[in-house]
Amino acid sequence: MSIVIQLRDISKKIRDETILKNINLSISKGEFISIIGPSGSGKSSLLYILGLLDIPSSGEVYVEGEKIEFTESSKIAHFRNLKFGFVFQFHYLIAEFSLLENVMVPMVKAGISREDAKEKAALLLQKLGLGGKEKRKPFQISGGEQQRVAIARALANDPILIIADEPTGNLDSKNTAIVMDIFCKLHMEGKTVIMVTHEIELTERTERIVKMLDGKIIEDLELSKKKC
Ligand SMILES: Nc1ncnc2c1ncn2[C@@H]1O[C@H](COP(=O)(O)OP(=O)(O)O)[C@@H](O)[C@H]1O
Ligand SMILES: [Mg+2]
Repeated sequence: MSIVIQLRDISKKIRDETILKNINLSISKGEFISIIGPSGSGKSSLLYILGLLDIPSSGEVYVEGEKIEFTESSKIAHFRNLKFGFVFQFHYLIAEFSLLENVMVPMVKAGISREDAKEKAALLLQKLGLGGKEKRKPFQISGGEQQRVAIARALANDPILIIADEPTGNLDSKNTAIVMDIFCKLHMEGKTVIMVTHEIELTERTERIVKMLDGKIIEDLELSKKKC
């Protein structure tokens, strides 16, 4: 299995506090992995480094075998926009933009023509059950639908990796199940999905559970491959 992303001996210090300690983690193509741990254990900090949103204090990050040089910030930004799709607890949709325009943003940023971006965005919204609502603004749809738009946006540039930080943290159980079904489906299509959650029952649908405590990985559990 080819490795999508690898962290080698990553530590992160903020002032006097070490919030990530000697993290080693390899994620293979197609894995569906959950990261769990109490609040403050470093889950988000770890995701920020995996997603090239933050720079470690020491250690190395490899994406598809290529070592990341943290001094090349514009290259990293480009890389991030093309290779990773992010979903957060809060959707961060642009309020003034329609759903279609929100999903178009990463594609337009990547240099895709507006016409192509429009077509692809409409397909993605359709795929996520939002066909017919393209022209609405984020405030004109429900919270569960907003999160699905955020997922559509994350998929815009066909990322190699979907990185989700408590994507269901703000949703009721019905919408949580819908979002989990979407991640499951993406996994079945071969996408690599990393999801942080503190809901233990959600980890049961993934194939690998990484447990964190006090900035360290305390357990890395491979479950049997199954249909999520
Ligand atoms: N920018 C920051 N400045 C200071 N401390 C931070 C910062 N970001 C995170 N931390 C600290 O790092 C630890 C891990 O935080 P975080 O990664 O957000 O944990 P989790 O996502 O598991 O709740 C916490 O103790 C938090 O207070
Ligand atoms: Mg967090």
